[in-house]
Order: sequence, then C-alpha cells, then structure tokens
Amino acid sequence: MKAIKNIGLANVQAVYSGPEGRLWQLLMGEQIHIGGLTSSMDLAERAGIAEGWSGVDLCCALGAGMRFLVRFRKVARMTGVDATRAMLDLGQKRCTEEGLADRMKFVEANVCATGLPATKFDFVWGEDAWCYVEDKAKLIAEAARLIKPGGLIAFTDWMEGPAGLTDEEAKRYLGFMKFPGVLRMEEYGSLLKANSCTVRAAQDTGRFAKHVPLYLDMIEKQLTYDALKIIGFDMALAQMLIGEMRFMQSLAEKGKIIQGLMVAQKGA
Ligand SMILES: C[S@@+](CC[C@H](N)C(=O)[O-])C[C@H]1O[C@@H](n2cnc3c(N)ncnc32)[C@H](O)[C@@H]1O
Repeated sequence: MKAIKNIGLANVQAVYSGPEGRLWQLLMGEQIHIGGLTSSMDLAERAGIAEGWSGVDLCCALGAGMRFLVRFRKVARMTGVDATRAMLDLGQKRCTEEGLADRMKFVEANVCATGLPATKFDFVWGEDAWCYVEDKAKLIAEAARLIKPGGLIAFTDWMEGPAGLTDEEAKRYLGFMKFPGVLRMEEYGSLLKANSCTVRAAQDTGRFAKHVPLYLDMIEKQLTYDALKIIGFDMALAQMLIGEMRFMQSLAEKGKIIQGLMVAQKGA
C-alpha cells in the first residue's frame, strides 16, 4: 500500500462538506466517480446484480449509486453508509424528490464499523471511494461481515496501477486527493481472500487516463465560471488544481494509477 500520514476521516469530511466536494460534483455529476452511469452499469453487469436483491453502498455520498441500482437493476432496497452529514442529507432529499425514499436507508457511520447487522445483505457496493478509507483491512472485513454466504462485494476504486508510484509521486497525489492510502488490485485480493471471499473479477477499467482530460476541458473550456465561483474566484487556487489534475493525468497515462474494478464472492 502507498500511504501518507496525517490524512484521515476528518480531512475527507471537510472535503465533502465544502468547496472541493462541490467541485467534484460539478465535474462528475451526482454520481461522483469516473465514468458515471457507464461505470455503474459495467460494475453491475460484471457482478450480476439481480432483481429483488438488497445491498449496502459503502461510501454512498449522495446515494446516486443506490438510485441507479434500484432504477436500472431493480434492486429491492439499498442501505447507504457515509460519514459526511452534508452528503447524506442531500442524498436523502434526492431520494424523496425521486419517490424512492421508501426503498432507501441512510446511515451516518464510518464504513469500517457500520453497526449494520451481519450476513443480511446480498451484496456490498462501492464506487471510487474506498481510497479515502484509512483502514482498508477493516473496511473489507466489514464488507464481508455484512453479506450473506455466497453474497458479493462489487466495487471500483482509485488504485495504484501496475507501473507503481514512487514515494514522491504518492506523497503528492495522495496529499492532493486527501487519500490516506491506495491499494493495488492484488492487495485488495489478499484482503478479500483473508475474509473468505473469492475474487471473481479484477480489471483495470482503462477509464482513468481518458476521463481526466474531460474534467480538465470542462474546467478550462465550459464550466470555468462555475468552478471559479465554487472556490471563491481564487485564480491561484484554480491554477494549482489544474496543475495537480495534469499531474494525475500523467500518472494515469503511465499506468501508475488506475480505476480498478473488482467483484468477490463470500464462501458459501
Ligand atoms: C467520491 S465520494 C463517493 C462517491 C459515490 N460512491 C458515488 O459513486 O457517487 C467519497 C465519499 O466517501 C465518504 N467517505 C470517505 N471515507 C469514509 C469512511 N471512512 N466512512 C464513511 N464514509 C467515508 C465521503 O464522506 C464521501 O461522501
């Protein structure tokens, strides 16, 4: 694992309660992950998420993944866990506005200790968020605890790629993103195995390097005013953000960071 010190849940909550979180929403939409609907559809297909199932979205943010699953995969009900109150409140509001509130439950908790009952869910879901979680071993143990025997853990995440990050690159990238640490796909594989789960799918989606230019284009060519408004028209900060996104782009192009997709099944 590549990790940095002094970044934890409080930093992540500050991001998603403030301008940085709103900036990601502007660029990515209410599904705050690379590839939006296509990525969710791909993950659901690979996992075989089926009608009538019930699942838990760990790091659900605005609950857009949960609404996607109910609408597009006819999932019966979803429970979303997130540690940022502002995200949960807006997520709940959107579920109510869209007439889906009776099938959704939101829980404010650290995903490493959700307080939800064990072995009650068909699947655990996660999209591009577990990179924010400090203790990945606890997170995977919690995910495995929640699902029934034979249940699935399906997630995408910002992972370290096969080319690997140098310590210097990791420090800059993790510091900018406020990630305490990122895992390689094999490291997630080991944690899943240690929790009696068999990996059914593990792949680089190949989206990272293609999508960052899209976000840069939006900031520079279309949504410049909107982005500046969110950060208080701070031009120096805007230049810094663009510079760090270009740096991220260079890491993605070299295969040093990827959006990884994994599906694992708990031993029956
Ligand atoms: C990138 S957003 C998640 C996006 C969401 N999965 C989606 O696809 O729309 C990251 C979210 O993770 C949450 N988060 C990060 N670390 C957490 C933790 N340890 N426990 C609970 N929530 C956490 C943040 O509060 C934030 O809402």
